[in-house]
Amino acid sequence: MTDKLDLDFVRGQFPTFSEPSLAGQAFFENAGGSYACAPVIERLTRFYRQRKVQPYGPYEASRLGGEEMDEARTRLAAMLGVAPDELSFGPSTSANTYVLAQAFRAWLSPGDAIVVTDQDHEANSGPWRRLADAGIGIREWHIDPESGMLRLEDLENLLDESVRLVCFPHCSNIVGAVNPVIEITAAAHAAGAFVCVDGVSYAPHGLHDVGRMGPDIYLFSAYKTYGPHQGIMAIRRELGEMLPNQAHYFNADTLYKRFTPAGPDHAQVAACAGMADYYDALAAHHGIGGDAPARRAGVHELFRTHETELLQPLLDFLKSRNSVRLIGPDDAAVKAPTVAVELPGSGAAAAESLVAHGIMAGGGDFYAVRALQALGIDPDKGVLRLSFVHYTSRAEVERLIKALDAVL
Ligand SMILES: Cc1ncc(COP(=O)(O)O)c(C=O)c1O
Repeated sequence: MTDKLDLDFVRGQFPTFSEPSLAGQAFFENAGGSYACAPVIERLTRFYRQRKVQPYGPYEASRLGGEEMDEARTRLAAMLGVAPDELSFGPSTSANTYVLAQAFRAWLSPGDAIVVTDQDHEANSGPWRRLADAGIGIREWHIDPESGMLRLEDLENLLDESVRLVCFPHCSNIVGAVNPVIEITAAAHAAGAFVCVDGVSYAPHGLHDVGRMGPDIYLFSAYKTYGPHQGIMAIRRELGEMLPNQAHYFNADTLYKRFTPAGPDHAQVAACAGMADYYDALAAHHGIGGDAPARRAGVHELFRTHETELLQPLLDFLKSRNSVRLIGPDDAAVKAPTVAVELPGSGAAAAESLVAHGIMAGGGDFYAVRALQALGIDPDKGVLRLSFVHYTSRAEVERLIKALDAVL
């Protein structure tokens, strides 16, 4: 087994890196959406060419299409340490939380309470806050206005027997700090509350054993995790079966259909199996064996080591600039490579000035308006965000630092 990520192998799995129209440009807006890996693109194309019929029918193309959709769900569930029917697909994470909030709206009673944060992307915040109009108490777990961090003690002060649900991000798409999901979940569970974790910003940096981590709901977006444009949701059986069904009434007995009111996007669901192929290809190439959770854990470790090594020099550079306010931790060990900075000017303008240097980055509020406001940043001014993943090379980060040196 090798403990160093073979970057040539990794980049060989992404057609984008040999795409002439993108040559000479380094991608640093991965938190907005990652490149898709070859197995996903191949499966998506194959589905459209060979299997684009109503699935689960008796004829070959239909049977294969249905089997591939089941394969995606089963393999991803195994990687995440949940049962196959505890995993479901939806159009996006925002759509998934919206549907879940409707289920909670019907289940909760006036006087019950939900904890939300101001660190979250709006997807795991707004749909829950809207339950206030049904008499549900909304308690806000505030970030520290300087550091952007959530403190466990602050959550503990909000918890009592009225709290039925605690929602928070695994990692904020602005602050970048990796929140201690296990500890937070344990505190919420001890108070009798369910837990909903937005894993969107962390999942690209490695999938977790969600079953062991313990949240009742864990959501992430496949299109930021090398896959097609889908939202993926793991929901614990006890909760999923207790919440009122949001799908057609005759689908109520199938857990993975209960929170998917719309028909699934067959081709994209099937293509999600390519995410598992990609993990498995990486595991095989790096000599990582064992069952699906073991292979996932080994690949996660490879990602994390590579990303941490590349992240620290970028953080050190940003820290050294007086005109830059680095949001969140400056220690790569506790941060995902999602780096937001406040500048004297607008984030969008800074992103634009990086284009001439061959850097693709973004500026704005990234739908984390509440987080920016809590940090004292005008959302209209926004932040510059520099986000990368495991396929990013050291040379690309060096090039980014050089470009930042020139434009900041
Ligand atoms: C942290 C975080 N959560 C949720 C979302 C929403 O995901 P989706 O676009 O799948 O609705 C995003 C998208 O940017 C995000 O960054």
